[in-house]
Amino acid sequence: FSRCFIEENRYMMLIDGIGVTVKVSLVAVVIGILIGFLIAMCNMSSNKILKTIGTIYTDVIRGTPSVTQLMIIYFVVFASVRWPKWIIAAIAFGINSGAYVSEIVRAGIQSIDKGQTEAGRSLGLNARQTLMGIVVPQAIKNIFPALCNEFIVLIKETAIVGYVGLMDIQKAGDFIKSSTFLAFMPLIGTAVIYYVLIKLLTLALKRVENTLRKSDVR
Ligand code: ARG
Repeated sequence: FSRCFIEENRYMMLIDGIGVTVKVSLVAVVIGILIGFLIAMCNMSSNKILKTIGTIYTDVIRGTPSVTQLMIIYFVVFASVRWPKWIIAAIAFGINSGAYVSEIVRAGIQSIDKGQTEAGRSLGLNARQTLMGIVVPQAIKNIFPALCNEFIVLIKETAIVGYVGLMDIQKAGDFIKSSTFLAFMPLIGTAVIYYVLIKLLTLALKRVENTLRKSDVR
């Protein structure tokens, strides 16, 4: 313990790793939600081409491991692009998350009673106005808990960014483990940091959810 903590203070690397994990996760969740909404719209559209695009996207992304996707995006797609590593990683995770978010959004929108759409349409709103003004605002409440889940999964999923040379929490823990020949403290430390990060996020999101539910009288 003292070998790594007092003499070298390598544990600071874990703290630096938090920055990478948080940056990648935050940007990825935004990209994921944007892609998710777009793909959900494609999947629910009556246009055959859009529907096919949506189906292929969801199938391919959910059908292949996220590590493989991350490596393909980093080493193949963005091979000649000189962007910061973490941005490319965030794009990869956003693309991955989008497929899962699209199903969350689709299920949420389809959970809203058809009568809501009919009411909107008979008030003279067009299909788009009905969807955006009446169905989506109600669906958000149903979608929110599943989106929070997705955010948590995403944060933990970024623990694979070491595969493309990023020093996140996981990679820092692994590095300290190899350089000190100690396993217990670095790895438990890694786990505790992820746990605290996700606990704080859960508490914050719970507050948002309660605010969203305020208008419900049940
Ligand atoms: N690790 C799994 C994979 O390779 C799970 C990914 C889950 N991702 C998510 N955003 N829900 O695909």
